[in-house]
Amino acid sequence: MARILVTNNEGTPGVGTAARMLAAGSGGLDAIEAGIRLVEADTTIRSVGRGGWPNLLGEVELDAAMIDGNSFRSGAVGALKGYLHPISVARAVMERLPHEMLVGEGAARFANEIGAETADNLIPDSERVWRQWFEETLSPAERARWPDVDLTALCQQAIDPEKGMDTTVFLSLDAQSEIMAGVSTSGWAWKYPGRLGDSPIIGAGCYADTRYGAAACTGTGEMAIRAGTSRAIVLYMKMGLSLAAAVDEAIDDLRRLRGGLIQRLTLHAIDCDGDHRVVTVNAEGQPSYWLWREGDEAPRAEPAEVVAL
Ligand code: GLY
Repeated sequence: MARILVTNNEGTPGVGTAARMLAAGSGGLDAIEAGIRLVEADTTIRSVGRGGWPNLLGEVELDAAMIDGNSFRSGAVGALKGYLHPISVARAVMERLPHEMLVGEGAARFANEIGAETADNLIPDSERVWRQWFEETLSPAERARWPDVDLTALCQQAIDPEKGMDTTVFLSLDAQSEIMAGVSTSGWAWKYPGRLGDSPIIGAGCYADTRYGAAACTGTGEMAIRAGTSRAIVLYMKMGLSLAAAVDEAIDDLRRLRGGLIQRLTLHAIDCDGDHRVVTVNAEGQPSYWLWREGDEAPRAEPAEVVAL
């Protein structure tokens, strides 16, 4: 099958490297990890890794996951603080532990044990914007007793569309006809501490099955969690639907959501024939993604389909 790589716009710093690696015959997990590491280290990408927006307490908490579509081994970390490459910690969870997911202090402990690179992920610009929000939003009494304040009301700030709320996703079909997926994010800006989005939740933020295909989501992770979107797309393909029909079916599932946070979500999918589809529901503007196919000299940007829920 023809090799293919799909990543979203946030994947810009890593797509070239990942595509070159796939072209040279690298396995999908290696190409995806290398691509995502470049995104995580790039402070111009404000929703992934170092440079990502902080939570309500002004702390950057990172989520990441990988899944191997041959074995269904996965590795995920959630709410990881102080490390530069959550994707590599997630891969180590998959390869070195009998577990699939670690969060918070346990994830940080494991990252330390494997010698993962530490980083201060709160860059000065993020700290400045967070501090401005803090000064303008909280009353003098709340600021005086900070952080002993009611975060539940403040959490509504997390849905401010002016704030970053994205992810990077990479899907690959490699030279061995194996299908892999990886994702990394800082989640919602101003999120409640400890909030996990879809990214570290296998089946919500990403899924892969070498026999059928892979899928991954960006945007409002709460929607993908509720609908199990990535697993649903792959399962619909297993049940005999085409790639296009599987994505339509997953969008139909999203239409059934009531209440909660219903905003933008982008569904990325590839199949075992090397086809792909990327659709944004509730788009703001025209989203784009990167596509590289075997024989292409370089990845090219493509407009996502836009569908209203
Ligand atoms: N899709 C990323 C998140 O909701 O955290």
